[in-house]
Amino acid sequence: MSDAPDRELRISKIRDGTVIDHITGGQAMNVLAILGIDGDEGIGVSIGMNVPSDKLGTKDVVKVEGRELSQGEVDVLSLLAPEATVNIVREFEVIEKKRVERPERVVGLLTCPNHNCITNADEPVESAFGVVADGVRCEFCGEIVREDIGDHLAVH
Ligand code: CTP
Ligand code: ZN
Repeated sequence: MSDAPDRELRISKIRDGTVIDHITGGQAMNVLAILGIDGDEGIGVSIGMNVPSDKLGTKDVVKVEGRELSQGEVDVLSLLAPEATVNIVREFEVIEKKRVERPERVVGLLTCPNHNCITNADEPVESAFGVVADGVRCEFCGEIVREDIGDHLAVH
């Protein structure tokens, strides 16, 4: 029991869904964007931003009820939050915990900042980025996105 139980407010545990933990502080809104969640869906979402973390100093946490992540979503997540852990929860128990891994490429989930890129023309071409040491590189035009990858999420 804590000495000061009234001073501590934790985000409630969830019954079924996904807890994305150890997110780089400040990236929670981008994580919601990756998942295509804006609140209209009616699913339960709890967000902690810049909460204290033993490992990271501060971190963000996103808990989504009744939803799991696709591999593509996890791949983009790894670029924004390399330390993130993805916890699958069923009946209140964490049944699977995985660390994110930097993928080799990301298809369809980012948009190219180069307006002249074929992926931004009205053509049926899906975006594709190779993951390079200092960011991601468009496979069509060579444009490199180094910072703020979260500003180039494809809306879905
Ligand atoms: N969690 C939750 N609802 C549950 C179970 C767990 O919201 N029914 C959350 C916990 O609050 C925590 C995360 O899922 O943020 C991972 O849970 P757990 O593995 O039990 O915590 P830790 O051992 O602290 O995880 P780690 O070692 O990854 O820091
Ligand atoms: Zn491009």
